[in-house]
Amino acid sequence: MNAMTKPRLVYLSDTTLRDGEQMPGASLDPSAKVTIAKLLGEAGVSSIDAGFPACGASEVEAVRRVADASPGPVVSALCRTLRDDIDRAWDSLADCPRDKRSVSLFIGTSPLHREYKLRMKVAQLRSTIRESVEYARRKFDFVAFSPEDASRTEPDVLCECYQEAIDAGALVIGFPDTVGILTPGLVQEQLRRIQDGVSNVNKAAIAVHFHNDLGLATANTLTALAMGVPIAQCTVNGIGERAGNTALEEVVMAIALNGPALGMRTAIATEKLWGLSQTVSELTGVPVAPNKAVVGRNILATEAGIHQDGLLKHPDTYLPFRPERVGAPGTRLVLGKHSGRAAFSERLERMGLKLSGADLTQVVEIAKAAPRDAWRDEEALLASAVAAVRTRERN
Ligand code: KIV
Ligand code: ZN
Repeated sequence: MNAMTKPRLVYLSDTTLRDGEQMPGASLDPSAKVTIAKLLGEAGVSSIDAGFPACGASEVEAVRRVADASPGPVVSALCRTLRDDIDRAWDSLADCPRDKRSVSLFIGTSPLHREYKLRMKVAQLRSTIRESVEYARRKFDFVAFSPEDASRTEPDVLCECYQEAIDAGALVIGFPDTVGILTPGLVQEQLRRIQDGVSNVNKAAIAVHFHNDLGLATANTLTALAMGVPIAQCTVNGIGERAGNTALEEVVMAIALNGPALGMRTAIATEKLWGLSQTVSELTGVPVAPNKAVVGRNILATEAGIHQDGLLKHPDTYLPFRPERVGAPGTRLVLGKHSGRAAFSERLERMGLKLSGADLTQVVEIAKAAPRDAWRDEEALLASAVAAVRTRERN
């Protein structure tokens, strides 16, 4: 990238309320969806995939309430390529301003889906895509089309499906890696085929949607964005079907930390990420793993003596970013068998106990010899170790 060129803005479309909610046990009632949607809007996502209205009346209400509550992002409803589904989406979004509502149609395009699920030949698939996109365009200005299982669809069939959808008026074409099998190199290969093989591709924007079955969703997303794809779908905490989706916070922070080198930027307020993650975890009941990238509590904690000493000397020595950058509470120096004197001394000082020399050494020794359970309350353990040292000295 030329040093004078402004990094390109990439758009993050959030599907926590739809694909994220598909995670077993993570279902959200309409009020919970509204709470999350407001936070997503404040964080600056460009669009929200709010739900699947064909699920029933509660989902119609949820999508409608999300649209009312979040005036910033475009709100989208997911539909199969069925008129009834599109009508339910319209029931949800008819009152939403035209430029803030969108509908996203999907149908399986891979041989597996065509043969076993849909029992459709390619010609019928193409006419279904055309007919449903045209129908949706009668109601919605923004229509997206996603070929489900795109990454396992024959390249020529995939290109024909996109061609059909764009001809019929789709402004966004999705590229879902539905079962999360791609690697960054394969993403490049498949996207290049689409960019080269769909003659009207310039009339639509590509939106990638990666599942994380191989733990590669973030890498795949960054690869696609680096190729010029403008939109990436993500979920908060990476929740979603099976191993989940690309984690919003991971893509945002990868770009925030490396933006100039990558030639990209996002519109996301990074300091909103921690709160968003906590709220999504509370409302879905899906805990955040301690070692989760960007928002796991261990990202800002260390028990290792060398790291603790470094952090006490300069907070950037062993952190990828300062906690406040993602709105997290400060770093935690966890005391344990790997900790060194510096961390013990700092904690004791915060407890109002200034120790040095042999006294500090003894406290560290006593504490380290304590059983694992005793570490649950670090301050109580330290207080009793100090008391033991003082008793020894008196006797
Ligand atoms: O992963 C997927 O294929 C989807 C579709 C509904 C787009 O979520
Ligand atoms: Zn998905």
